[in-house]
Formats: sequence, C-alpha cells, structure tokens
Amino acid sequence: MARQDTIVYLNGEFLPLAEAKISVLDRGFLFGDGVYEVIPVYGGKPLRLAEHLERLGRSLAGIRMEPPLSAEALEAVFQRLIQGEEDQSIYLQITRGVGPKRDHAFPPGVAPTVFAMCTPIAPIPASGVKAITVPDIRWQWCHIKAITLLANVLQRQQAVEEGCAEAILVRDGYAIEGSASNLFALVDGVLLTPPKGNEILPGITRDLVVELAQSHFIPLEERKITLDELNRAEEVWVTSSTREVLPIVELDGRNVGTGEPGPLWVRMNALYQQRKAQLRRGL
Ligand code: PDD
Repeated sequence: MARQDTIVYLNGEFLPLAEAKISVLDRGFLFGDGVYEVIPVYGGKPLRLAEHLERLGRSLAGIRMEPPLSAEALEAVFQRLIQGEEDQSIYLQITRGVGPKRDHAFPPGVAPTVFAMCTPIAPIPASGVKAITVPDIRWQWCHIKAITLLANVLQRQQAVEEGCAEAILVRDGYAIEGSASNLFALVDGVLLTPPKGNEILPGITRDLVVELAQSHFIPLEERKITLDELNRAEEVWVTSSTREVLPIVELDGRNVGTGEPGPLWVRMNALYQQRKAQLRRGL
C-alpha cells in the first residue's frame, strides 16, 4: 500500500501523497479524459523508458493532446520519485486538465494535469495463478492507454470474485489480452500472441517477450488465438509491467497443461529475470 508520506509529483510540485489534491472539475475525474503509463524500475533504473515514453506520445496523440513535458523533464521527475533499489513501478497520469464547467467538449486553453508516483512491485507467484475468460466489453480504441478503465475494472473484479488473478478477454471468438495484461499461449509447440492493432494495448513487456523468443529461436507467431486454441494450449502466460511474465495454471476451472508452470515459461522467465539483472547492473 502507498504510504501517505510518499513523495509524489503533481503539476510541477513534489509533495507528500496525502497533500496531493486535484479539483473536482478535473476532466480525469469527471470523464476519465486522460492517459497513463506504468513503467517498471529495477535497481533504480526504468525498464524500456524510451518505449514507454513513445507509447505515451501515441496515447496523447490518440486523444488529441500535446505532450505537457519533454521526455527529459519526465525522466527528471521519475528520478526524484524512485526510492532506492527495490523493484517498483512509476505510475504517470496525464489528464486534459480542469475545465471551467462540466462540458464534454474540450475546454480551450486549459493546462493538463500531470501526476506521477512510485509504488513497490510485489514478486510474482512462481507457482502461477488462475484466470477466467470473459467477453470483451471494452471500446474500439484499446491501443490507447486511457485512464477510462471501467470495463477492465469490472472484468478484473469478476476474476477476483471467482478466486482468480486475471480475466482473459474474448472478442469475436478470439482471446485477445487480459484485463491489464497481454496474452501468450503455447499451442502445438508454437508460442502465439495476438498481433498489435486497435483491439489490444501494445504492451512493452509483450514486445520484450517477443524479442526474447525470437533471439532464442523459440517458435513464435504473432496471430490471433481462438478460444479453442486457448483451451487446449500447453501453456498460457500473461505479461505486464507489474506482473512480468505470469503463468496461468488454471483457466475457467480446468488445468492448463499439467496445472503447473510449463517448461517454456521457466525458460522465458529466466531470460526475463536475466534482463532485469542486467538493468540492475547498469547494462
Ligand atoms: N497495464 N493490456 C492492458 C489492457 C493493460 O492494462 C496492460 C498494462 C498491458 C501490458 O502492458 P505493459 O507490458 O506495457 O505493462 C496490456 C498496467 C500495468 C496497469 O494498468 O496497471
């Protein structure tokens, strides 16, 4: 849990979390009108910072906002928020700002609200987790990392109430991603992950796992995964900046493979952990 005296960043100031306040007219609060990033930090160093900031730029462009701070200025903010060497993540949120009244259309000439904080990352359960499949009820621009997450919240809550850690979203008969993660499935010896497009968030962890698979000659195809393929997959993983590469060992109450994290996950997780260790050593 975030401590109330943790220093956070809000609109140019560094102040304790308990003192960071925004207006009730903030469009993030009223409309969910904003975007965000979550960036993992290992040994005090953000992982793939440039890629996260590029995605932020695309999210901002997607909602027709100008970047409020340069990449260098954001990096300087992050450096002041990072606490020691522990595994942690930076949360950055940018909203369209505080309008003069509640009106759906953009208010002219308002300054965006920029908020950032750092929180610890909990170690992932190496024995794997359970997941359910649910219909994807989200909008059509899932490639934008929008703070408007009501569908994802409801989907994750359903998973939690069913004793599971993640909900896998199914759209038109295809399993496309998790409520807050990307999806990988090992089917007939080939690692599958859905292609990037407007139906999924282009995950930074996903891209790293794809690169690791390719550079280690693990057969991989970026293509859609049918529900039938997901159900008979030898292994299923979800990936995210806070959950790394997380094995799903039970799906909709049935074992995935043997019901334990599979050998390819063991290999990929080792590669991922190696990448983290390199970052910690400054490589
Ligand atoms: N979520 N898909 C969705 C819908 C997500 O919300 C996330 C991440 C991902 C994985 O992206 P990345 O590997 O870049 O973290 C995929 C963050 C962690 C969150 O909302 O907390």
